Amino acid sequence: MKKLILILSVFILLISFNIQETKAAEDNEELLKTDWSFKSFFGTYDRASLQRGYQIYTEVCASCHSMKYLSYRNLYEKGGPEFSEEQAKAIASNFEVEDGPNNDGEMFTRPGKLSDKFVQPYANEQEAKALNGGAYPPDMSVLIKARKGGANYIYSVLLGYEEPPSGVILDDGVYYNKFMYGKKIKMPQPLSDDLVEYSDGTKATSEQMAKDVVTFMMWAAEPHLEQRHKTGFRVIIYLIILTILVYFSMKKIWSRIETKV
Ligand code: HEC
Repeated sequence: MKKLILILSVFILLISFNIQETKAAEDNEELLKTDWSFKSFFGTYDRASLQRGYQIYTEVCASCHSMKYLSYRNLYEKGGPEFSEEQAKAIASNFEVEDGPNNDGEMFTRPGKLSDKFVQPYANEQEAKALNGGAYPPDMSVLIKARKGGANYIYSVLLGYEEPPSGVILDDGVYYNKFMYGKKIKMPQPLSDDLVEYSDGTKATSEQMAKDVVTFMMWAAEPHLEQRHKTGFRVIIYLIILTILVYFSMKKIWSRIETKV
């Protein structure tokens, strides 16, 4: 029985060990970390953080980065920021959406609806590049999955701006960021303390804002994470019960055989 318990606990330990955690930056700088609510085997999204993260996205990042796979209705779906339907409607209606053509064959704008995709900042990639010194601000819907280091990496880039060391000369519109590949980035530092005001009274430090917006980006890329964790947990319980049953039936079946050890 002792052995069984030992094996079981090792098994559970191994699973709850988050593999992503070990994927640190190998090239140069050690990535910054924080206590993500969604990490670990039982992780869920911190609702308040998701709501604040949406605020940061829309007030700060959305002027350059699109999130084209999200719709306004996602904002009140379960497992997400869980705004109320009314709040999500109000958020959507703040945006102007191009629609049409109408009966005269003309395009027109109207307030956004829940079924609309998030409004994009630029008409096309060329315009985005032209307005950002030739660099394309990547779409943020699934960006967190496309970068090695995931949440920690994006968190680090947001907080990794520094004065360039002496001897490093930067062109106009290029900034020094020690976590970026080549340590240069064409995105001006987007966050600074007290940039926004949070309605829930949370202090808007750069770290807090970075943490919130990255949590929001994580949810955008993995909206079903909570459901997945729940299912995983049920599977583990099932396996544990099964293991115990199998163990005792094995004992019973083999009990008539004399062992000579
Ligand atoms: C003024 C426009 C602008 C704003 C505002 C802005 N970004 Fe960017 N962002 C850019 C551009 C341009 C790039 C591409 C930089 C490059 O390739 O050098 C970029 C790149 C990035 C990257 C990718 C780094 C990589 O590994 O390629 C991340 C992550 C990012 N931005 C996150 C954010 C977040 C989060 C916000 C809001 C807090 C934000 N950005 C606000 C323009 C902006």
